[in-house]
Amino acid sequence: MCGIYAGVTNHSITTHLIDGLNALSYRGYDSAGIALISKQGLERRRAKGKLDNLTGLLKQTPLEGKVGIAHTRWATHGKPECRNAHPHMTLEVAVAHNGIIENYAELRKELEACGFGFESETDSETIPLLITCYLHKGMTQCEAIQNTLARLEGSFAIVALFDNCPDQLFAARQGSPLVIGHSDAGFYLSSDENALIDKSDAICHMQDGDLARITHNRLIITDFEGNIRKRVMTPSYAISEEQGKQGYRHYMLKEIYQQPAVIQQTLDHYLQEDGTLHPDLKSLPMESLCRLSIVACGTSSYAGVVAKYWMEEIAGLPVDIDIASEYRYRNTPYPPQQMALFISQSGETADTLAALRHASKGGQQTLSLVNVTNSSMASESDRMLPLLAGQEIGVASTKAFTAQLATLLLLTLVTARSNRQITQLQLQQHLNTLNTVPRLMDDLLNQTDTIRNTAQQLYRSEHATYLGRGIAYPLALEGALKLKEISYIHAQAYPAGELKHGPIALIDERMPVIIIAPPGPLFSKTLSNLREVHARGGNIILLSNQAGIDQAADFTDTAIVMPEMDALIQPLLYTLPLQLLAYYVALYKGTDIDQPRNLAKSVTVE
Ligand code: M6R
Repeated sequence: MCGIYAGVTNHSITTHLIDGLNALSYRGYDSAGIALISKQGLERRRAKGKLDNLTGLLKQTPLEGKVGIAHTRWATHGKPECRNAHPHMTLEVAVAHNGIIENYAELRKELEACGFGFESETDSETIPLLITCYLHKGMTQCEAIQNTLARLEGSFAIVALFDNCPDQLFAARQGSPLVIGHSDAGFYLSSDENALIDKSDAICHMQDGDLARITHNRLIITDFEGNIRKRVMTPSYAISEEQGKQGYRHYMLKEIYQQPAVIQQTLDHYLQEDGTLHPDLKSLPMESLCRLSIVACGTSSYAGVVAKYWMEEIAGLPVDIDIASEYRYRNTPYPPQQMALFISQSGETADTLAALRHASKGGQQTLSLVNVTNSSMASESDRMLPLLAGQEIGVASTKAFTAQLATLLLLTLVTARSNRQITQLQLQQHLNTLNTVPRLMDDLLNQTDTIRNTAQQLYRSEHATYLGRGIAYPLALEGALKLKEISYIHAQAYPAGELKHGPIALIDERMPVIIIAPPGPLFSKTLSNLREVHARGGNIILLSNQAGIDQAADFTDTAIVMPEMDALIQPLLYTLPLQLLAYYVALYKGTDIDQPRNLAKSVTVE
């Protein structure tokens, strides 16, 4: 998603702005630009595509200055083209913007009627034009910004730079994150705290309604009317992108291999040394609930579907699972004994955040599971359970998913115990089983030959089908999503029993069918579906234990043998080969694995 980086310092800033944009690049973008105050005044450079294009442009036509703003754009209003890239500017002011100005059409009409021409198709360009309009009416820079802010509807984080105010930056936040970092050299700002860590000793998260006026040695924060707001700079605890790729070819591969450690960290956090569970888990009012309503997007929603199976079967608690973009616009009844659970890696996904606000407004008690613990969802929900995945850089979520699963399994066990669905002894046995996950994951990650060979057969396919029954169904959904995201191969996932109700028409010898069939009561049912696929010539790739593989040997083209394990932890382990399969298919195809086309790490627009 779009990223803002800016600085007001006592040294030359261009390379720092580019470093900042690089640190933001993992979020996904399709153009970038910078504007700064040079000796000639306000100047900018913008380029479509990767940052290399912008740095190439800066080599040809350098820019130097001490105060500047920069932006990576992920297209919403208008194509990824240079003219739509930020910063947008007039002769007087340059602005970089994250978010969406919902009333831009009305503002655009008004500005055009006043004689202002638009260069871009963006909603963002209304901001510098509106500021300029107010400057032309004789207002000061500060008044022009305040009056502009009063006109904007929607969400925004804005940084603005004025031609005749060369040592100052203005920044405002309403609904989109913006963080200020401080060091001896001055102030840096970014929409992502992680981009500030190596430049700042202390940071301050701007709050909605904050307007900051910043020189290299002074920061004043007011509300949009100019009343002083007190904000404190605190030491920065953000973790850097964990020392780069550490020898892995991609962040995604590194993050796949970090999963044993992530699960261990999750267990170390939530299981205390004396064998009891962390108070944050134990103190949740799970026994009073009649229903749990889980809301999320993408991969996080598939973790929620896994949790539905666990919660209903182990804890006896009915669960609804909703896609956030649907939930937020439905008139959902909110029974008093229901809790709404929001799952998100970033904690900033616009749809999930809006769904959380919708539920809070409806009087629901809210709980969020988030990886970024200083995110909006973390601060706006009644309770929060942190995910211990560490910073996830790859756009395709991997370690955050298994961290979500581990945390949701712990939540299930706590609920089951408080609902008296399991005894203390059974709880302990389940926790012991959970403790075997990191070792089993390690073993699995050390045997990838079959997966690489399978990927080599798969990467020329145009389509793939993923099937699973019961708790393996959400794993099929996640496997298909991973393949789509990074290899651009069309993939569909179905509950295996649903195949005959339509999708079976697509099966022929050109259709790879990945069947996730762990041992258990549904294995024989899935085997019947596998035979239906075989009878129609489908190319079957089966994930099961050795006994399952043996039973299906006559109908299977490729077997991925999974280790023996307790059924409780199957979702955590069966996910890994699906992630690796998608990774190697994308590697053979040569796609941009860490930053796949059109995708953003954190989707902060609706
Ligand atoms: O940050 P969130 O977990 O809220 O993000 C939700 C989805 O946007 C995210 O899971 C997306 O589907 C990933 N690209 C999946 O790999």
